[in-house]
Amino acid sequence: MPLFFYSALFLMYPQTRDLFPVSMAMQRDRLVGALGRIISNVDRVDDLVPFLKQLGRDHRKFSVVAEHYPAVGQALLATLQHFLGDRWTPALAHDWTQAYGLVAKVMTESAAEASTTSPPWWEGEIIMHEPRTPAIAVIRARLNHPYPFLPGQSASISFGLRPRLWRFYSFANAPRRDNTVDLHVRVVDGGTVSTALVYGAQRGDVLRVGAPVGGRLTLDPGRSGDLLLIAGGTGLAPLKALVEQVAYDGPRRNVRLFMGARTSRELYDLEALSKLDAENPWLCVVPVVSHDGLYRGEHGHVVDVALKAWRGQDVFVCGSEEMVQTTVGRLLDAGVPPGQIHFDEFTSDGGKQ
Ligand SMILES: Cc1cc2nc3c(=O)[nH]c(=O)nc-3n(C[C@H](O)[C@H](O)[C@H](O)COP(=O)(O)OP(=O)(O)OC[C@H]3O[C@@H](n4cnc5c(N)ncnc54)[C@H](O)[C@@H]3O)c2cc1C
Ligand code: HEM
Repeated sequence: MPLFFYSALFLMYPQTRDLFPVSMAMQRDRLVGALGRIISNVDRVDDLVPFLKQLGRDHRKFSVVAEHYPAVGQALLATLQHFLGDRWTPALAHDWTQAYGLVAKVMTESAAEASTTSPPWWEGEIIMHEPRTPAIAVIRARLNHPYPFLPGQSASISFGLRPRLWRFYSFANAPRRDNTVDLHVRVVDGGTVSTALVYGAQRGDVLRVGAPVGGRLTLDPGRSGDLLLIAGGTGLAPLKALVEQVAYDGPRRNVRLFMGARTSRELYDLEALSKLDAENPWLCVVPVVSHDGLYRGEHGHVVDVALKAWRGQDVFVCGSEEMVQTTVGRLLDAGVPPGQIHFDEFTSDGGKQ
């Protein structure tokens, strides 16, 4: 189905080809599946509006403009007609046209509104690129315009070596006056963008950074109280940003950060966090290693060690999908109330809506 859609689109409107990744073969489909899901849920349009507005604003980073929307609509209808055959009736065609029109209207209006206040993407020059393990790099980039974001948020990022491919990465710092942001990137086996960022990127290269997104790991300004943070691998990034936020806000709460890794070598940011720990009496950082017989510190699954320190704090969890699922399951089993568990996972599709 995606193949037919893209063939129809590029044949009818060749000018749209340049908006998409160079190699579509290497790319999982991001657009067609979402289009079908969204349009067929149009009867819930009120629930969808906030998401569609963000999607429309965000589509500016693909260089999509209002004139492209009818082209995608036509290619979608041609695809449905092809696959539905006799079941494609004028009434159905009418319904889908209306539904697509409505969704496109919300997206284009929101894009037009956003373009009066923010750029389609920011540019960030890499000013530091530190390989910390064979598979993890810490990257610092300086953005070309002010970039308001909340600690705990992420952004979709694209890099010149992999043009037009966008992936989400979390900021590992609270906003700074010099507009720099830190990213912690781990190579995923066979991963297109992570490999380029860790092995190919260097100082002076420029990243494209989309608008900040995500609210699952941000601190609720209305809630105070101590925090227990549980990180798996580079899931440390947004939780380190929370630690920095508590430090900037003035240490009104105690924070315990448990950082999990398979081996001690993978504790890629231990030096920086140990320094923070030594400087701040309200902070306690505990590294936990699961597969390293020679390691002298805490052993086991990071959640099991963290649970020993749970005294009713709000808990924040971030890491791979598997780590987050296991961790949240164990927290619930141990009686942590669901409303106090905040989590986000590094999925490959970023598809959380
Ligand atoms: C909100 C959010 C925040 C994120 N923050 C970070 C971060 O701070 N640091 C970081 O290193 N990553 C982060 N990620 C993951 C990141 O967006 C990419 O998915 C990851 O870097 C892989 O991209 P790729 O292009 O290299 O792999 P792709 O070319 O997209 O995929 C290659 C293969 O690996 C699989 N795969 C893709 N991503 C993952 C994954 N995360 N885990 C396991 N298998 C995967 C794919 O299914 C595919 O088979 C975040 C993801 C989300 C949704
Ligand atoms: C109703 C209209 C549309 C909907 C609901 C929609 C939805 C989506 C979604 C959910 C994604 C994945 C999100 C992401 O990767 O950030 C996506 C990606 C994309 N969309 Fe749209 N879209 C629409 C219209 C358009 C139009 C008109 C164009 C321009 C031709 C376009 C071009 C793209 C591109 C280039 C991508 C990235 C594809 C990739 O990386 O493979 N979209 N779209």
